[in-house]
Amino acid sequence: LKADKRESLFLVSEYARDYFQEHLWESQGGRAIGQTYFKERGFTEETIRFFQLGYCGESWDEFSKTALEKGYQSEFLTGTGLSIARDDKEGEQRYIDRFRGRVIFPIHSMSGRVLGFGGRILDQNKKAAKYLNSPESDIYHKSKVLYGIYYAKKSIAKEDNCFLVEGYTDVIQFYQKGIENVVASSGTALTPEQVRLVSRLTKNITVLFDGDAAGQRAALRGVDLILEQGLAVKVCTFPEGQDPDSFARAHSLQDVQEYLAENTLDFIRFKAKLLMKEAGDDPMKRAATIQDMVNSIARIPSRIQQEIYVQECAGLMRISEQVLYSSLAQLQERKG
Ligand code: CTP
Ligand code: MN
Ligand code: MN
Ligand code: MN
Ligand code: MN
Repeated sequence: LKADKRESLFLVSEYARDYFQEHLWESQGGRAIGQTYFKERGFTEETIRFFQLGYCGESWDEFSKTALEKGYQSEFLTGTGLSIARDDKEGEQRYIDRFRGRVIFPIHSMSGRVLGFGGRILDQNKKAAKYLNSPESDIYHKSKVLYGIYYAKKSIAKEDNCFLVEGYTDVIQFYQKGIENVVASSGTALTPEQVRLVSRLTKNITVLFDGDAAGQRAALRGVDLILEQGLAVKVCTFPEGQDPDSFARAHSLQDVQEYLAENTLDFIRFKAKLLMKEAGDDPMKRAATIQDMVNSIARIPSRIQQEIYVQECAGLMRISEQVLYSSLAQLQERKG
């Protein structure tokens, strides 16, 4: 019975995916508003079709009405969050389209089934959230999905590396440029489940977060989480105000690859660069930086890997390995 329900949720989600796609390509609003939006972002028609992007019109309930007419049950429409149940003035049940007036990014499982959606508002001035996502359901658990994993999985295995970005458009722009081993955490703080999804394909993650304060904080948190899962992690930061989407859009594939090659640091060097910039000559702050690096090293499950990073840290910070080891031992004692 549980399996039947899940299957029904998948089927209604896949119907919605098809409906939003059809609206993008066939309806007046889809052509004038949706297609124009994607094309202005530099997405080609091939890319738009490949990622199954769509459009939901401004109408309050056109999607929900059509789906109900087609025989999809309200229980599954609300269960996926595609429709929101409301009582109208006469006290009658109505179903409103969650994603009305938005362009649509379907979110796929590793095997390509539709789990949920992200919907982006077109008019930045509107007071609503820029992105609206499917709510948690029996098929959509946001902490367990990575946007793009279905499209990226082959390339991740082949390249033996996974680029981790923040957003939908970062994935799409990179892919269109020719870098296919890329997935997005979709703005949420990275979770162990998401890292485990990647670790089925590779043990190497390169974090490419936005070039702003929020992106930097998220990268630092992400690094520790990835280390805890036993994966190797590198970080490449983008120029202030840029994200992988805007950067890839403005540069050739060769330029992007060169930038990545020249600016990717392993986590120890990333931390050293970032934290030492803040610490300057202040000895207490420098000490705090070293402590911070040791805290990260302590999260690595493999003793051998720990040793390699201790050596690197000692060299970079000009401090003895012995001191680092004793600090590491203290931390691990405390963890028990
Ligand atoms: N996000 C979200 N809700 C928001 C803002 C962001 O769910 N209100 C998620 C989206 O998945 C988004 C990601 O966080 O793709 C990264 O956020 P941000 O960098 O602000 O958006 P971009 O992906 O750069 O989106 P765009 O280029 O369309 O502005
Ligand atoms: Mn479940
Ligand atoms: Mn951002
Ligand atoms: Mn961004
Ligand atoms: Mn962006």
